Amino acid sequence: MIDVEELTVRFDDVLALDGASLSVDDGEFLTVVGPSGCGKTTLLRSVGGLQTPTSGEARVGGDPPETAQSAGDLGFVFQSHTLFPWKTALENVVFLRELAGRDPERERARERLDTAGLGDAVDAYPRELSGGMCQRVAIVRAMHLGASTLLMDEPFGELDELTRYDMAASVLESWRDSDRTVLFVTHSVPEAVLLGDQVIVMADNPGRIVDRVDVSLPRPREESTMDTAGFAEQVAEIRQVLRQNRGDDEGAIYAER
Ligand SMILES: Nc1ncnc2c1ncn2[C@@H]1O[C@H](COP(=O)(O)OP(=O)(O)O)[C@@H](O)[C@H]1O
Ligand SMILES: [Mg+2]
Repeated sequence: MIDVEELTVRFDDVLALDGASLSVDDGEFLTVVGPSGCGKTTLLRSVGGLQTPTSGEARVGGDPPETAQSAGDLGFVFQSHTLFPWKTALENVVFLRELAGRDPERERARERLDTAGLGDAVDAYPRELSGGMCQRVAIVRAMHLGASTLLMDEPFGELDELTRYDMAASVLESWRDSDRTVLFVTHSVPEAVLLGDQVIVMADNPGRIVDRVDVSLPRPREESTMDTAGFAEQVAEIRQVLRQNRGDDEGAIYAER
């Protein structure tokens, strides 16, 4: 469970986040969507204990984020992968579990890499893999840690269209099987709708939360879900909220992925 109360983050004269409040229930998949620069990463970093708020607070499972993190209860996937260059893909995936004092479950890790299309890359080093492959290893690593709360910041950014939805499917599958709580940031409205139970909509200048929209699409959701009329309606609804909250002086473009 994640609780964010009146979170404000100021960088000099930039109000990156202005009094953001949200809560994510245990087992809920919450997506956050908004234009570039609206404070999505700042929000996620604050929830993860990597950014000290100017005021307000974030709690994970009732504790300060730092406590959850040191207990191995918090998994991260960042916008750019953060693999250890001196470790192979497999070693990267099991390392966080070893660090948390858990059974590394190497065979399970191999299976997960295989499912992510990385069966041939298990023993490769990050420098031998493409950016998209490294990003997939980082996603597998976060899943394998088994943390009860997962924070994901545009994790599919470097992936091509097909791989993106394969990874989305495997994230959804792993989430369903594990009942973990996910906070997932994206600038893609379709991605936010496909994945989320609810979508938090943000706006910029100052960075803030403007709406929380229920996604009323049945699960399990698949790539074909995106071809349904219901899906198109939800996407349109959120695009409308984004447009209503767009500053008049800017022509922000929302990526249509
Ligand atoms: N460390 C920092 N120092 C100064 N400004 C920052 C820093 N991090 C983010 N910002 C600014 O805060 C705003 C929100 O950034 P960010 O959270 O990265 O947005 P998003 O992830 O939605 O693109 C932007 O204006 C950005 O330039
Ligand atoms: Mg960002």
